[in-house]
Amino acid sequence: MKITVGCDHGALALKESVKEVLAELGAEIDDVGTFTEESVDYPDIAEKVCAAVTSGKSERGIVLCGTGIGISMAANKIKGIRCALCGDVYSARMARAHNDANILALGGRVLGPGPAGEIVRAFFTQEFEGGRHARRVGKIMALENK
Ligand code: RB5
Repeated sequence: MKITVGCDHGALALKESVKEVLAELGAEIDDVGTFTEESVDYPDIAEKVCAAVTSGKSERGIVLCGTGIGISMAANKIKGIRCALCGDVYSARMARAHNDANILALGGRVLGPGPAGEIVRAFFTQEFEGGRHARRVGKIMALENK
């Protein structure tokens, strides 16, 4: 699976450790930056990662900022994106199983590499359950046109 990752300056280190976990999972990684400590605006990073997913270049994405909050808010403004900010394994599993999330958001100043790695493993190994959840996800997506 191809996965696009992107972070602002608040999550540089966590992005690197997340990439190691993705490599262990056998993912093909597309890193859109940022690559230095210089301050950048997280909506710009969210836009790049989401474009990769909505265009079909990547199947899924990971966005990271200091808290994960701003970048997940930005990602969820983009049509076709269902971005889940996760701070625990159960939420990561449910974000896939029930919400069919296509982007995972993480907070680089909130999570250490160990817990973040477990969250990433849960998110990228859990399948969407469909059924009644597909109806609800359909209703989420219909909100984009209201
Ligand atoms: C950047 O300082 C910080 O605001 C950003 O990384 C993020 O935490 C925003 O939600």
